[in-house]
Amino acid sequence: MSLFLGIDSGTQSVKAVVFDAESKRVIADGRAAHSLIKNLPSGHMEQNPDDWTAAMDVAILQALEGVDRTAIKGVGVSGQQHGFVPLDESGKVIRPAKLWCDTSTANECKIIMDALGGEEQSIQKIGNRVLPGFTAPKILWMKRNEPDNFSNLRHILLPHDYLNFYLTGEFFMEHGDASGTAIMDIHTREWNREVIDAIDPSIEGYLPKLSPSSHPCGNLRPEIAVKYGLSPSVVVSAGGGDNMMGAIGTGNVMPGVATASFGTSGTIYAFNDEPVVDPRGEIAAFCDSTGGYLPLMCTMNVTTVSEQFRILFEKDHDALNESISRVPLGSGGLTLLPYFEGERTPSIPEGSGVLIGMNGKTLHPDYLIRAAIEGVTMGMNFGLKRLRELGVSTREVRLTGGGSRSAAWRRIIADVFGVSVVCMQEDEGAALGGALQAAWCLERESDPEASIGSVVEGATSIDESTRLEPDESSVARYQELQAFHSSLSRTLEPVFREHAQFK
Ligand code: XUL
Repeated sequence: MSLFLGIDSGTQSVKAVVFDAESKRVIADGRAAHSLIKNLPSGHMEQNPDDWTAAMDVAILQALEGVDRTAIKGVGVSGQQHGFVPLDESGKVIRPAKLWCDTSTANECKIIMDALGGEEQSIQKIGNRVLPGFTAPKILWMKRNEPDNFSNLRHILLPHDYLNFYLTGEFFMEHGDASGTAIMDIHTREWNREVIDAIDPSIEGYLPKLSPSSHPCGNLRPEIAVKYGLSPSVVVSAGGGDNMMGAIGTGNVMPGVATASFGTSGTIYAFNDEPVVDPRGEIAAFCDSTGGYLPLMCTMNVTTVSEQFRILFEKDHDALNESISRVPLGSGGLTLLPYFEGERTPSIPEGSGVLIGMNGKTLHPDYLIRAAIEGVTMGMNFGLKRLRELGVSTREVRLTGGGSRSAAWRRIIADVFGVSVVCMQEDEGAALGGALQAAWCLERESDPEASIGSVVEGATSIDESTRLEPDESSVARYQELQAFHSSLSRTLEPVFREHAQFK
């Protein structure tokens, strides 16, 4: 029997799954929550990396309960993308990690892009604009705001790399997650000298050597092996960002498949053999974690927004579904721009939430809830439209994340996106992706040509009972609403900037 552990360290919790390579099924799982640091200034989103490792220990030990630990052959780790984990000489965390959803670094983005010759040049030189979500501006932010911390910096890691470091003691970075740093040129898959110099020439020595995602990171440190009751020969694969691993765990490892994740962030992505670079920089030109590419759109406001409305009106998830279903399509003209924490696509880091259309009928919990769900879904559709314009095929969208579990929300997704949508049998796509990548990594030791496709086949199956086809007349109506939503967002861009001073 060969078992593989898959870990996904998200913004809210760490999930662990045990995957059986023979039956191709997840046979056990575990989960432990961790939290954001509270009371930081607006736009600052940070976590203590040691909270992630503590939560990972709990989740892994929970998943391994009752499992034959001698059968565990490999571990693969997925993590929230882009976070900056600064380590000193001894590998100790210097300060909390600024996360993917931290929007405090707009000035630093401008400084780096100016050094590259502007936005267009930045896209040409590294494939991407430098956005506040990405890692590069976070490093420059620390240099400009916390010089003492910067002077102690010796190692730069991403969240999943830090978990790999905890497991193996290796400073390691693979191409998929590294493509979200905005320091790696996605064409050459090498660190870009000009970005490094724009931050500080010294960081060249602090960035790990880049590795293909098929290469192993290392083996378990002896003390970790003892803690988990596993053999120290267990292999830790390269791992990757949560979207890269979500792609593997939803079978999105060949062209033609698209995945939409309705989680803390909203993402839509599709595997490609070639880089997909957006000249407007709205779609991120990432690499995947199997050697290919993963054009991706990301919004920052999905389940955080829906959950705030749900909690505000004291509803459980069933009641939320009922609220959505009681209100007609379009929420009686109530429209939400859901930029609670600023937004990345479209790029409005200073944004906040805006409601238009309140009147005696719509100022009602049910209307507000449906408008919130429609608003975040149209926010994601803005990016989906751009992916299509860039030639990415999205005939069927595979759904993951908490939001997709609601049938009423799924109906809105099918009609707003205008495509057939379907959930996966195994909901923890990113954790499963970690386990599958670990299985692939081990298989390649005996067969260097082993393809990720053959590992994924049979392990990632669709739950046909959840499939919804778009309804033509609803699609047409949502297209009109979408046009209004996008134009409202464009019109308010300067207003958001002016309003930021009052936050
Ligand atoms: C994608 C992104 C988010 C995080 C969430 O670029 O920033 O999806 O990976 O964990």
